[in-house]
Amino acid sequence: MGNELKQTIKEMVAVGKGILAADESVKTATKRLASINVESTEETRRQYRNLMLTSPEIEKYICGVILFEETLSQKSDSGILFPKLLAQRGIVPGIKVDEGLAEFEGSIEQYTKGLDGLGERLEKYKEYGCRFAKWRAVYSISETTPTEMAIRRNAQDLAKYAKTCQEHGVVPIVEPEVLIDGAHSIDACHKATEKVLREVFSALKRENVMIDCAILKPSMVISGKEANNRAGVDEVAKRTIKVLKANVPPELPSINFLSGGQTPQEATAHLNRMHTLNESLPWYVSFSYARALQDPALKAWQGKDENIRAAQQAFLKRAKLNSLAAMGKYKEEMENMDLDMAILN
Ligand code: G3H
Repeated sequence: MGNELKQTIKEMVAVGKGILAADESVKTATKRLASINVESTEETRRQYRNLMLTSPEIEKYICGVILFEETLSQKSDSGILFPKLLAQRGIVPGIKVDEGLAEFEGSIEQYTKGLDGLGERLEKYKEYGCRFAKWRAVYSISETTPTEMAIRRNAQDLAKYAKTCQEHGVVPIVEPEVLIDGAHSIDACHKATEKVLREVFSALKRENVMIDCAILKPSMVISGKEANNRAGVDEVAKRTIKVLKANVPPELPSINFLSGGQTPQEATAHLNRMHTLNESLPWYVSFSYARALQDPALKAWQGKDENIRAAQQAFLKRAKLNSLAAMGKYKEEMENMDLDMAILN
């Protein structure tokens, strides 16, 4: 089992590569498609995933893709099951295994559903070729939250999920997301992230999760979306690395950020700055973005066949720029360069 996990980690910790999160639930995918006035059906969701997953040469920038259950049994236009198509391109297929959020009774805070029957589901997903999994817990910032209760419960569930994954030979991506929603300061986010990460890693330790066979997918330390005077790129990068160094064991192989509502450019610039701080990072630091990789492609597509190429170009551009950011080689002026220009060397 250990070897299986280690091999997956080896393929997913590749310098200059990151993870594409294409695991939107039907509800979230419907929201995304509604933003371009496309009706959400099994077929339109397949077409949209086909567009991204068949983009030329994504394997240069993407080493893993997180899929949603529905996509596992869908096929590309050329008739190949999506997980198989990815594996053929040298990309590791993964699967979102949580079953969404529920509210704690009498509270606005949420926990994540999906522990029941997780082992059996993992075995089924493995038959489709999935080798890693993802589970997302969320924490909202307000005067009274996140509470100790929510922090503890979500950490425990993340740890139980991670343990179950490893018992089934599946690498767990542990995703504690401190939400960007609100007008809170970067300081409030820093404090909440500190508490959340501390509790997550002590729960992982209590459950005997093998830290060297897991991936962390955290949010960055960032000002609330509605805050006045939002912190700049430098501060976000410095505070994020600080909180990670204080709480994440060095044996963890990889940290792959979520974008969490940042603009695509912000998410790229923040990741890049973390690599140019002149700090030694004990883990590989990269991306596992959904919106920050997909949004420009979605807008370019508009559900029209004649736009597929432009949408793929838009997607590849974000993938390339984030690949460069994961090596500290991104520059803001690249945003305005034509994709066909040699921006990689
Ligand atoms: O669970 C959330 C996704 O995997 C990451 O999505 O980059 O849009 O926050 P995001």
